[in-house]
Amino acid sequence: MADTVTEPRTDLIEKLVSLSKQRGFIFPSSEIYGGINAIYDFGPLGVRLRRNIKQSWYRRMVELRDDVEPIETSVIMNRNVWVASGHVATFSDPLVDCLGKCQKRWRADHLADLRVERGKPADAAGCPECGGRLTEARQFNLMFRTFLGPVADASAEVYLRPETAQGMFVNFTNVLNASRQRLPFGIAQQGKSFRNEISPGNFIFRSREFEQMEMEYFVRPGEQDRWFEYWCSDRMDWYVDDLGLRRANLRLRAHAEAELSHYATAASDVEYRFPFGWGELEGIASRTDFDLTQHQKTSGRDLSYFDQATNERFIPYVIEPAAGVDRILLTLMIDAYDEEEVRGEKRVVLRFHPDMAPFQVAVLPLSKKAELTEPARRLEHDLRRHFPTDYDETQAIGRRYRRQDEIGTPLAVTFDFDSLDDHAVTIRRRDDMTQVRVPIAELVPKIQEQLDIMRSAAARRAQGAVGP
Ligand code: GAP
Repeated sequence: MADTVTEPRTDLIEKLVSLSKQRGFIFPSSEIYGGINAIYDFGPLGVRLRRNIKQSWYRRMVELRDDVEPIETSVIMNRNVWVASGHVATFSDPLVDCLGKCQKRWRADHLADLRVERGKPADAAGCPECGGRLTEARQFNLMFRTFLGPVADASAEVYLRPETAQGMFVNFTNVLNASRQRLPFGIAQQGKSFRNEISPGNFIFRSREFEQMEMEYFVRPGEQDRWFEYWCSDRMDWYVDDLGLRRANLRLRAHAEAELSHYATAASDVEYRFPFGWGELEGIASRTDFDLTQHQKTSGRDLSYFDQATNERFIPYVIEPAAGVDRILLTLMIDAYDEEEVRGEKRVVLRFHPDMAPFQVAVLPLSKKAELTEPARRLEHDLRRHFPTDYDETQAIGRRYRRQDEIGTPLAVTFDFDSLDDHAVTIRRRDDMTQVRVPIAELVPKIQEQLDIMRSAAARRAQGAVGP
């Protein structure tokens, strides 16, 4: 039966690295040249999974609401954006260099954890790797720098954005005027961000190029606490209800006073229990009027809001839920991964929520003979209009089922020799491997019915019920 244990499985990340490469979820970037540290490419299945995550977020945060507008802003922005936001001055981590044998570079505030990971006492002296002497800590800015135009001098220096958030703050008035929203309302965007992390790692958990899904929700000053609570609760529900992650592996962790960023009055992280410990998937922050005030000061443009009801002009406060696509993707794979023994053989299954799975239906002709492959192909083409589908006619049927289990396809439709006479096919469910025979004429509603059954099972599993 399915694994319902929520204890971390330490070798799981290694298994997922290998499965991701073999099946086409995630590849190391530029691999034929030896790769590039902490940057990844997403393969055919990874792209599908990411699109499902992003679409689910977009649907909940934008499409199903009246009060949130989407935007897509540029990766490279005016340098002053990052001066005003404080990133030029303070977006840095403390860095130390090893002066001993390995000459590696470390984050000074991660040294204890890095030592423990290498089986050493947290308070051991020197470099976590070789024990060598370390330099004094110095601040290292995490923004990637480049030059705009042909002249590579300081006046042309620009940054790749380290977060998507600032694109929304600097467009506050544009969106307000164009959309005619009134407070409270939000601006949301998904897009790539870049950070020159000193100690990236844990596969795609901390990488140097990643994708964010952020929303800035503008409220009247005084209403921020209520909206902060609202967004903390709504965001937690998304992970369980829409993504199907197990609630037992999630928690909302409030930041202690000392942990808060200089602009925040409250912050909580949605965290997942990774095999390497609890890690952040999303930060929800009450950012006061810090960003709009800073941009108003630096740009000289009026970024205030006029409230017609009260005749007041003020700078709105902001609640920001900021999530990372890559970490969520990794989380979905970890949460879905299961191994079980079936007839003496190991079966690997990704028990994705049916709406997250890269494919919902795989069509498999029983044999490679044209009398089966041609109608099976036609059937798969018909189903495409209703579901994301895959088609596979290679190898023995048992191996093809295993492959679909391993990539998390909820349903496999098998077209066999009897199908030619009885105009029926078999639907096999990924989770319990049960099969039902259904007439081809009723296939679409029957698949829908099966997916609904699996959606209900995924909801029970996410809430903690035992079973697949
Ligand atoms: N605008 C606020 C902001 O960017 P953050 O907590 O630094 O907040 C939000 O980032 C989310 O972006 C994180 O919760 C995480 O999911 C993702 N993220 C941040 N840095 C990342 C990295 N180096 N690799 C992968 N994801 C990252």
